Formats: sequence, C-alpha cells, structure tokens
Amino acid sequence: MSKPKVALVVGTRPDAIKTMPVVLALQKISEVETVLISTGQHREMLDQVFATFEVQPQIELNLMKPGQSLSEMTGRMSLALGEAIETVKPQFLLAQGDTTTTFLAGLMAFYAQVPFGHIEAGLRTHNVHNPFPEEFNRQAVALFAEHHYAPTEWSAANLKREHVPDSKIFVTGNTGIDAVKMVAAKREQTWLPEHKGRVLLMTMHRRENWGEPMSDVASNVRKLVDRYEDTHLVVAMHRNPIVREVLQAELGGHDRIELIEPPEYESFVKLMQRATLILSDSGGVQEEAPAFGIPVLVLRTTTERPEGVDAGCAKLVGTDGNVVYQEAVRLLDDPEAYASMAKAASPYGDGSAGARIVKHIRDFLQV
Ligand code: UD1
Ligand code: UDP
Repeated sequence: MSKPKVALVVGTRPDAIKTMPVVLALQKISEVETVLISTGQHREMLDQVFATFEVQPQIELNLMKPGQSLSEMTGRMSLALGEAIETVKPQFLLAQGDTTTTFLAGLMAFYAQVPFGHIEAGLRTHNVHNPFPEEFNRQAVALFAEHHYAPTEWSAANLKREHVPDSKIFVTGNTGIDAVKMVAAKREQTWLPEHKGRVLLMTMHRRENWGEPMSDVASNVRKLVDRYEDTHLVVAMHRNPIVREVLQAELGGHDRIELIEPPEYESFVKLMQRATLILSDSGGVQEEAPAFGIPVLVLRTTTERPEGVDAGCAKLVGTDGNVVYQEAVRLLDDPEAYASMAKAASPYGDGSAGARIVKHIRDFLQV
C-alpha cells in the first residue's frame, strides 16, 4: 500500500521559516511521504530560507511578480495551487500563518476536500483592516481548517470563542520558536556590524504602514541615531520596492545607519542577538526577540501577539514617529526601564511545536 501524502504549502519568508520545523520532523518518519509545495509568493527571501534549512520544495510554482497586487496574486495563485493539489492528491495539507499563500492553500484544500491543518492558528486583532490583509486571512483560514495548531492558550481561547470545537484545537507552541532555536544553536560566523557601541535593529514592511506612517517613523529613528553618538542603526530592508523607497529616502546617507539587503535567517538571528534594541512591525520578530531578552518596540497600532507585551518584553508603540522616538529614548537613557524589558521569556513556545504537530498528524492518519 502506498504511503499517505502530507503536503505543506509555503510562499513567503515567514511561512517557510515556521513550516521548516514541521517539514524536518515529517522527513524523519518513513510512514508518510512529505511533499513541500512552494507558491514562490516571495523569491529571493524564500530561497534564503530553503538554503538555510537545506530543504527544497518538490513543487515550485514560482509565482512572484515584482510589485504584485493582492488581486493578481490571488488569481494566479488560486489556479496554480488548485492544480498542484489536484496533481499531488495529499491526504493531509498544512500551511502556517496568515499570508495570501496560506489563505489560498486553505481555500484550495477545502475545495479539494483535503483535511487542512492550520499552523499558528487563533492569532487575532479582531480588526480585519489591521494588519491588512493578514487578519482577514487567518480568520478565513479558521473556517477551512479541520485541525487548528494554536501556539498559545490565548490563541486557543480565541478559536473557542469562534465556536471551533475543543477537539479540533491543539496547543502546540509556535514553530517559529523551534526554528529560531535551531539556527541560534549553529556556530557559523555570520555578518555583524563592526560597530563597538549600541546596535539598533529595524525592520518595517507591513502594508498598513506603507507611505506616511513608515516615513514618519523612519525620520524619527534617524533623529534617534543623531541623538546617541554611540549607536549604529542596521535596517534590514524588505525587498519590496515600495518599502525600500521610503526607507532609503529617510535613512540613507548617514554614516551610522546601514541599510542592508535582508540577511538570510541565521545572520538575522545573530543580528537580533547583537542588538540593544529592536524596532519592528514584523510578526515573527515579536516572537523571536523575547526569546533572547532583546526589547522590541512594535511599530504597529495592533498586535495579534499580546503575550510578549503582557510579559513586558515587547511594547506596542504605534506608528506616530514622535511616540516611537520618545519610547526609544526612554529605553536608551534609563537602565531600569531597559532592564525591565530585557528579560528573556518565551511566551510563544518551548521549541517542540513541530514534534507535537507531527504526532497529531500521525494519530490522525493512524500511521
Ligand atoms: C507578505 C505577506 C505578509 C508577510 C510578508 C513577510 C501577504 C498578503 N503578505 O507581504 O503577511 O508579513 O510577506 O515578509 O501575503 N519581493 C521581492 N523579493 C522577495 C520578496 C518580495 O522582490 O523575495 C517584492 C516583490 O516586488 C513583491 C513585493 O516584494 O511583489 C511584495 O511581496 P508580497 O508577498 O506581495 O507582499 P509582502 O509585503 O512581502
Ligand atoms: N527575517 C530574516 N531576515 C530579515 C528579516 C527577518 O530572516 O532580514 C526573519 C525573522 O527572523 C522572522 C521572519 O523573517 O523569522 C519574519 O519575517 P517578516 O518580518 O518578513 O514577516 P512577518 O513575520 O511579519 O509576517
């Protein structure tokens, strides 16, 4: 008898990082055939993750187009993913998080009547416009999913409030913590700035921050670097030209600001560990920074990850540049305020989420 096929769909950098622990755990068992499908929603940033984890997709749809709109990406991806699922005929399909790739993987699994497991289920801001379109994507995916892998008790409670039956919810921890532990344990030398003083690290890419909010935050962060001569700012720029244009205009041409291409995952993790302070609107960075005790100012007005804020390791500071500036000043000037945030905590998981998910898949498939 042929082995059951378990397919996993990834498309963006965070999809791939957080799905890798499940892929690697599945590849270790001989009772299932693991099929990794890449939509290629991202290109360079996705390839970096495949290289870091030494995993290649069996199916590469290669869909990224420069400057893609949500609608054209949705159209192209629906057709291509629908065909890929038709070709593979998996017995189980998984995707993680809240990207267009994940939303469409869930929808196409539903159309093909393939049981769908949602990794990182139950995160909510309860505002479909923020983050946009991610909050809609993850709420919609909960309708398609048969198995909901919630990273925390809080995310599980959100699903229960939406009437997802208890028997379909599994609290697993976040697979992102598995991934970050895997790469942090590697001993290779990676790029770090030569600067001897305090390093600030910034990333910003979210759609709702495009334009004025991003430009206001960036210009105030430049003021911050001017104020503290011992600081050096590293900006890991997303590849999106809309984002780069703003960041380069506001932060370029300064001798203590380095605008760099997005480092591959392992280098980025080492860079986070080297940083005194992180400023970011990233979802994944909000989870990873607390694991290393690096304070993170979250450049957003909402978060679906309140656990780090409650634990005191992350602060939701919004996108008013002046407020961001004042919050950073407080942390850079006041050692007590800094120390109260700089405590290592992993409210998002213990590094075994992938193993828990694979155990559940095996129980479900009875292999
Ligand atoms: C996507 C996700 C977002 C996630 C982010 C992670 C959606 C709707 N958004 O947003 O949830 O937080 O990825 O980074 O799914 N580009 C490249 N090379 C790359 C990647 C992107 O050139 O490797 C450029 C392309 O011009 C592309 C553009 O960035 O068209 C936007 O990429 P897209 O995936 O549409 O949106 P993101 O903002 O990356
Ligand atoms: N990351 C990376 N290189 C970078 C910036 C981020 O490897 O230059 C990693 C980061 O450690 C985290 C993930 O990418 O695991 C987050 O991706 P991103 O911020 O693009 O998306 P989000 O998590 O906001 O959806």
